[in-house]
Amino acid sequence: MNQQDKECLAVCSAVIGAITVFGVIAFFIASALSEQIAEQPSVPAAEVRIQPVGSVAVDGVASSQPAKAMAPVAAAPAAPMSGKDVYTKACFACHGTGAAGAPKVGDAAAWASRSAQGMDVLVEHAVNGFQGSTGFMPPKGGHPYLTDDNIKDAIQHILDATS
Ligand code: HEC
Repeated sequence: MNQQDKECLAVCSAVIGAITVFGVIAFFIASALSEQIAEQPSVPAAEVRIQPVGSVAVDGVASSQPAKAMAPVAAAPAAPMSGKDVYTKACFACHGTGAAGAPKVGDAAAWASRSAQGMDVLVEHAVNGFQGSTGFMPPKGGHPYLTDDNIKDAIQHILDATS
């Protein structure tokens, strides 16, 4: 390595070192700033605005507590939904109308033999999909983000509304 190369190497290392140090400092400043921003009251308000509809009313205190206010946002797809909510969103298209051979809500005769199988079997069929004699029940009604409990609540709603 000649003298010029050595000088160049030294300068380059110094520059790269400086950039690295600057980057690390910038990172810490940014994270410090973001913590400050998170503490400002306006942000929880924004978080409350982007919460799924319904969760605000469930816990009025949440809006003043950033950590709690954020929880429903992270869990958005699994946000609390009543059986009726799930039914309206994911099941009504078929079970409200009888489309595709689906047993209709309110048709006690169509549901009698099905509910006789017991809730566990109904949940299993609705969660994993089920080919029966009248048509095909798609897994979770085609809404994969629903939990097994969502499905169970929706079935309970269907049975309650039918009997
Ligand atoms: C695309 C139409 C469609 C949607 C959406 C749908 N279903 Fe179904 N479902 C069917 C059909 C068709 C059947 C009847 C299958 C058979 O027995 O031939 C059925 C049957 C069922 C059964 C009875 C299963 C059994 O063992 O007899 C349950 C319970 C059920 N659906 C629950 C739900 C729930 C809960 C939802 C919403 C999350 C839903 N379904 C959404 C079409 C649908």
